[in-house]
Amino acid sequence: MEHAAQRCLGSPWHRRWWREQKSTNGPSSWAAASQIRIAIGQFHDRDVIIGVDEHDEGRVPEQINWDERYAVADYLYGTTPNAYLRSQRYRLTPGARVLMAADGEGRNGVWLAQTGLDVTSIDQSPVAMRKASDLARERGVTPQFICADLAVGPVLGAPYDAVVAIFAHFPSNTRAHIHRSLAAALKPGGFLILEAFHPKQVGRPSGGPKTVDMLYDADLLRRDFAALEALEVFEGTTRLDEGHKHQGEGYVVRFVGQRPYSAERAPTLARG
Ligand SMILES: C[S@@+](CC[C@H](N)C(=O)[O-])C[C@H]1O[C@@H](n2cnc3c(N)ncnc32)[C@H](O)[C@@H]1O
Repeated sequence: MEHAAQRCLGSPWHRRWWREQKSTNGPSSWAAASQIRIAIGQFHDRDVIIGVDEHDEGRVPEQINWDERYAVADYLYGTTPNAYLRSQRYRLTPGARVLMAADGEGRNGVWLAQTGLDVTSIDQSPVAMRKASDLARERGVTPQFICADLAVGPVLGAPYDAVVAIFAHFPSNTRAHIHRSLAAALKPGGFLILEAFHPKQVGRPSGGPKTVDMLYDADLLRRDFAALEALEVFEGTTRLDEGHKHQGEGYVVRFVGQRPYSAERAPTLARG
């Protein structure tokens, strides 16, 4: 029977890697192949890559198609970091542990690693993680890469000093849960840094999901991240110049939240 992980990872390279890891490490172990680390665990009584649903149940075409989109030589969003993330870098101290949520081809995680941060990069697309790993090698840094679906299971490696979510769009059936999990993955005092497309982006040619269901406004983010103190919230236009996918004027929402230090206001770890 074809293995769930084989289906997830798809390529002959990954299939070969999976067979090797399975025979040397067995299930429920952490394994490393070059710079890519993949969590192997038990889910629904089968060995799978943690967080990748064996069936595509609950996954929308936008998620399933990511591997196909990334299967090109180019970096879809370029290899330079997102401008808003650059503007927020000052909040993070050297050596800070940072989780990059839905980091794609790694342009942001690799750049933060180059600035001296301890980066863990998660994305559900193994093709993207492979490209991110190549970019990291080229730049001489070693972030940890994890191929996982943030909608399933705990946020690996928590707690973090910061969580970064740049154009990390999730459908409404998983979004609130993922956002609460990301907030809960922060240490007290830790920052969430987010930029995403706003519903007013629909119809603009500068990128982003085509359905309002996957777009965020400030009220939605305030609700999802109610456990955090909102330090900065912005809705409006910005000029995007990110690879060939994000070009031109885009309507975005930006959010910086901080996990409070006091226990009374600590975010809930419960799943929603
Ligand atoms: C628009 S791309 C942004 C990539 C990257 N953050 C950047 O700005 O270059 C969105 C990414 O979200 C990832 N993604 C979507 N749903 C996900 C999920 N449930 N868990 C993990 N990654 C997810 C996709 O694989 C894709 O790489």
